[in-house]
Amino acid sequence: MNIAGILGTGSALPKKVVTNFDLEKLVDTSDQWITERTGIKERRQAAPNETTSTLCIQAAHKALAMANLSPTDLDMIICSTISPDMPLPSTAAFIQRGLGARTVLAFDLAAACSGFLFGMTVAEQFIRTGKARYVLVVGAELLSRFLDYQDRATCVLFGDGVAAGIIGPASPPSGILATEMHTDGAFAEHLYIPAGGAAKPASCETVRAREHYIKMRGNELFKVAVRSLEEVSRRVLEKANVKPEDLDLFIPHQANQRITDAVRERLGVAPEKVYSNICRIGNTSSASIPLCLDECVRGGRIKKGDLILMSAFGAGVTWGSALIRW
Ligand code: UT7
Repeated sequence: MNIAGILGTGSALPKKVVTNFDLEKLVDTSDQWITERTGIKERRQAAPNETTSTLCIQAAHKALAMANLSPTDLDMIICSTISPDMPLPSTAAFIQRGLGARTVLAFDLAAACSGFLFGMTVAEQFIRTGKARYVLVVGAELLSRFLDYQDRATCVLFGDGVAAGIIGPASPPSGILATEMHTDGAFAEHLYIPAGGAAKPASCETVRAREHYIKMRGNELFKVAVRSLEEVSRRVLEKANVKPEDLDLFIPHQANQRITDAVRERLGVAPEKVYSNICRIGNTSSASIPLCLDECVRGGRIKKGDLILMSAFGAGVTWGSALIRW
């Protein structure tokens, strides 16, 4: 069995910055409320000519360059997104075409904020069994296209962004050490887009009722998020026989600074070992963890041999955790 690891990372952020003050002009909110309740100060918003796949292609090129690979080396492409270019075909198909990759197995994965970790786990299995050598996993969201800018409960939270990882054979002791992923549909309607699918196809009524936008029961999700993130992080650490104090870096999904702080405290990880970029980027769902990872790699925050725990929670609800040694 081969050991899999992350060989390269890359990201692409739209240029336009939307500040809390910009949002004050759209909905009944304030910089103070958003900052105190979420930690977010600003987020990015894609330009009209940008799509999920165009940003994915930029991020993928950077990740491939870091891994010293070219698009034709890829054996598989997984695009984790809940904001695809269009319902059909997959965004992964546009990425394959845009990169000039071979006609490999390429598909989209819908696990919201846990999507990058879900994708990495799938990639790991193919690499371990020798079915694939190099897998591109992209966490990609243009959530601004699915936000209701009349709904202050959601439009202040989310942002656009894309980040990619190349998963491939690793040399021990580096590699993915332990993972655990979960889904519980009992909370499906806590965070969802009601219309536009087979259950409620698009109609004039659904558009009038603003049902193509993200709806969220944030308060109820908050408690589930903290509990799930703590439990799954603990279990993954136990699987690898690693203590929280042995971690070099903890990258939680960036949903809310208060969630990050609560989970960190419950786990007993030192504050300086936790990475957070939510103040600049907001919640970018499946792009959140790989964006943090890419910032850490390129910013020199991660060095060879570091133990890194990544833990995610999102719509579905989905949650999971992965421990890697860089
Ligand atoms: O990434 C996927 C997973 N995401 C999550 O797990 C998100 C988890 N939830 C959260 O992060 C938080 O629950 C939110 C940030 C979404 C909301 O914070 P909260 O402290 O739980 O606020 P709340 O929903 O309990 O609302 C408190 C008050 C309400 O007013 P009343 O009813 O007390 O008068 C809201 O209407 O805050 C109001 N409110 C706002 N006020 C100003 C809600 N959104 C805003 C806003 N600006 N943007």
